[in-house]
Amino acid sequence: MIAATRTTSKMDGLRRAGAQPVVVNGLDRDSVMKAVVSAQPDAIVHQMTGLATIRSLKKFDDEFALTNRLRTEGTAYLIEAARAAGARKLIAQSYTGWPNVREGNRVKTEEELLDPNPPKTMSRTLDAIRRLEASVSRLSDITGIVLRYGSFYGPGTSITPAGNIVELVRQRKFPIFGNGAGVWSFIHIDDAAAATVLALEGGAPGIYNIVDDEPAEVYVWLPDLAEAIGARPPYHLPAWLGRLVIGEAGISMMTKVRGSSNAKAKSALPWQLDYATWRDGFRRGFREHNGSVRVPSVT
Ligand SMILES: NC(=O)c1ccc[n+]([C@@H]2O[C@H](COP(=O)([O-])OP(=O)(O)OC[C@H]3O[C@@H](n4cnc5c(N)ncnc54)[C@H](OP(=O)(O)O)[C@@H]3O)[C@@H](O)[C@H]2O)c1
Repeated sequence: MIAATRTTSKMDGLRRAGAQPVVVNGLDRDSVMKAVVSAQPDAIVHQMTGLATIRSLKKFDDEFALTNRLRTEGTAYLIEAARAAGARKLIAQSYTGWPNVREGNRVKTEEELLDPNPPKTMSRTLDAIRRLEASVSRLSDITGIVLRYGSFYGPGTSITPAGNIVELVRQRKFPIFGNGAGVWSFIHIDDAAAATVLALEGGAPGIYNIVDDEPAEVYVWLPDLAEAIGARPPYHLPAWLGRLVIGEAGISMMTKVRGSSNAKAKSALPWQLDYATWRDGFRRGFREHNGSVRVPSVT
């Protein structure tokens, strides 16, 4: 297995993980062509994103600009390189949650349209997701699979004992704005990895939601996360204030977004979750970290 990174400093870590590292800039066509053609892979997994520096939801499209380029230009270079190298499968990372239509059922399947009317500040990012999904899932000469991961939690993500979101919740800086009725779908990073391996080994072309069994409203999961980490409950603040603080995209994620169904991935891959719900997953993560866990109260 060959693993790509932008920096030589990460090469040893990749070797320790059992991969043969190669330095690639996913936004440089020649770099991608050279690496892929010399590797001659059977399959390529495109996990390139640039989300680590995101700090605000207010200028959503600006914050996602690098990720959007990786999803559009980066995907086009990989498809070209995959063809040149004779690869038979391309799996690409997408996202599910806020791209769903923000009306009707609280949980959406892959059959339903992506939101035709996202908040203006999210429109370029949704366009990049559409382009990635269309260019990969409609490939005819290569098996193209799109994995729409839900919001990650677990080691290496922002919802882990020292993660950014957990720190904000601990400091009560992650309030519930408005009615908190936005529905989120989570996935533990290990379950996302397992689904990716199954897609690599046997998945049919198409788009799959990779989420857990329990889509949940912000007013449900956020107080539960606070309790799991031993923090005081989040503040409840009005939507008008939220618009000022987290912008239209943020308030929409708090109040309007819809969750996603995993029925297709579970039947087609076939995939079994280690963490069927974030409810258990959040606590297991903190139990493993602290050696103890707080028991949730039943209300
Ligand atoms: N579904 C989700 O919820 C979701 C999805 C993605 C990320 N996130 C979250 O976002 C945070 C960090 O995200 P991140 O996107 O920065 O993750 P990351 O793990 O730091 O980066 C993702 C991958 O993209 C590669 N990459 C980025 N730009 C590249 C380029 N120009 N050329 C080649 N490779 C490139 C990185 O390679 P290098 O080795 O060079 O860094 C890395 O392997 C985490 O908290 C994560 O959980 C969430």
